[in-house]
Amino acid sequence: MIKTGGLGDVVGALPPVLPQEGITVRTLIPGYTSVMNALSTAQPVHEFANFHGASARLLAVQASGMDFFVLDAPHLYARPGGPYAGPDGKDWPDNGVRFAALSQCAAAIGRGVASDFQPHVVHAHDWQAGLAPAYLHYAGEPRPRTVMTAHNLAFQGQFPRELLDRIGLPPSAFSVDGVEYYGSIGYLKAGLALADRITTVSPTYAAEIQTPETGMGLEGLLRHRAGALTAILNGIDDTVWNPAADPWLASTFDAKHPANRVPNKQALQGRFGLDVEPQTCLFGVVSRLTHQKGMDLLLDALPAIEGAGAQLVLLGSGDRSLENGFVAAARRAPGRIGALIGYDEPLAHLIQGGADALLVPSRFEPCGLTQLCALRYGAIPVVSRVGGLADTVVDASDAALARGAGTGVQFTPVTRAMLELAVGRALAMWRDRALWRRLQAHAMATDVGWRRPAKRYAAMFRELVAQ
Ligand code: ADP
Ligand code: GLC
Repeated sequence: MIKTGGLGDVVGALPPVLPQEGITVRTLIPGYTSVMNALSTAQPVHEFANFHGASARLLAVQASGMDFFVLDAPHLYARPGGPYAGPDGKDWPDNGVRFAALSQCAAAIGRGVASDFQPHVVHAHDWQAGLAPAYLHYAGEPRPRTVMTAHNLAFQGQFPRELLDRIGLPPSAFSVDGVEYYGSIGYLKAGLALADRITTVSPTYAAEIQTPETGMGLEGLLRHRAGALTAILNGIDDTVWNPAADPWLASTFDAKHPANRVPNKQALQGRFGLDVEPQTCLFGVVSRLTHQKGMDLLLDALPAIEGAGAQLVLLGSGDRSLENGFVAAARRAPGRIGALIGYDEPLAHLIQGGADALLVPSRFEPCGLTQLCALRYGAIPVVSRVGGLADTVVDASDAALARGAGTGVQFTPVTRAMLELAVGRALAMWRDRALWRRLQAHAMATDVGWRRPAKRYAAMFRELVAQ
């Protein structure tokens, strides 16, 4: 219904598989305009009188095979623009209140306001929900257990301390072991400090965030709470990302028929105005265009990629200067480099199903989902060795190949020079068609679904409730 990146994918794909593990889930989301417009039937379950300026309703909704709670508070969420910013791209000035309200609502559900649903666990994702464990903590026992999942420490949700009273937290909460964070209220920090358990989305990121380089100021707290921290890798929704039945592909395919990818490559080259050359290695990129994603390094590496005889297509949006940079680069190299600025899910599928390799040169990457899609679609991932990229792509070293493994190329450190070398390595392997087929077969055999991660979440919830 609404997403700006991987967080939306995870929150949309994990809940539907948890029931198979015996866990009943309801997912609370804000009543954004697009959400409210998509509701057909909704059951009011609670009314919050005077909820930050007006009354609000909690609705129970079933959609896409999931059970939702929607917080219908038009004065907070029914606005033009995105979830966090207006049409002018500027953050809403009351985001502190908007997401405190969401967390307050989650805490209220945790304490039983939806009479037919008393959760044993309240699971908060990212700073937007970070205060939910705090509200429950300060309300005292009995309360459900709480889990805080950190999808990206670069987004922490920091708001002025003056908000404390307005968002209904006690003065005592403003302390180092509470919600206080460098003189402000830290929403993510609050969740990390006060939740019963913390999870993050890959083992390597779980280790990295305990260091100053990647901890973004939270490393001390995370080291202190290391005993409560678990890493559970993300999966992807393998019904949405299924090359054998993908409506957005020119030609569906599976691991047994990789040759059926050929029409997709052709369609992709056509779509981006590239020379339609089946024998040229085509790199794809589907990404937010940001510093995190190493997109500035990629922009600098484009001449080398083109010089090596490869083609590249990029789909993304983000920093204005990067958007302009890629558009200009495509204009300078017609037929060889293509760039489309925007958010386009069907096209993202065609890139995964048509590109020979997918580039992900992130400086840090909590998990990353595009490399998982790439594995499933046989687009060989070329990735930096950080976070979840390190954990999900097996570098095709001689040793790995000898033991029948190897699904992609990893490089480190994350520099333009190493990215260029990695592209060169991928190209050398591409020329050995038999080797490339093996890589594709390994990649497509990788288990990237949610079943395994869902079992781990379910086990953690059970353990927590049993304690
Ligand atoms: P992040 O959440 O940090 O942006 P992830 O790799 O976890 O990175 O998730 C990104 C998700 O958003 C993937 O599902 C990817 O396909 C999708 N995506 C990113 N950019 C675009 C785009 N421009 N058009 C379509 N889908 C995109
Ligand atoms: C964040 C991270 C990304 C991760 C996603 C889902 O957006 O940047 O690495 O895959 O959350 O957990």
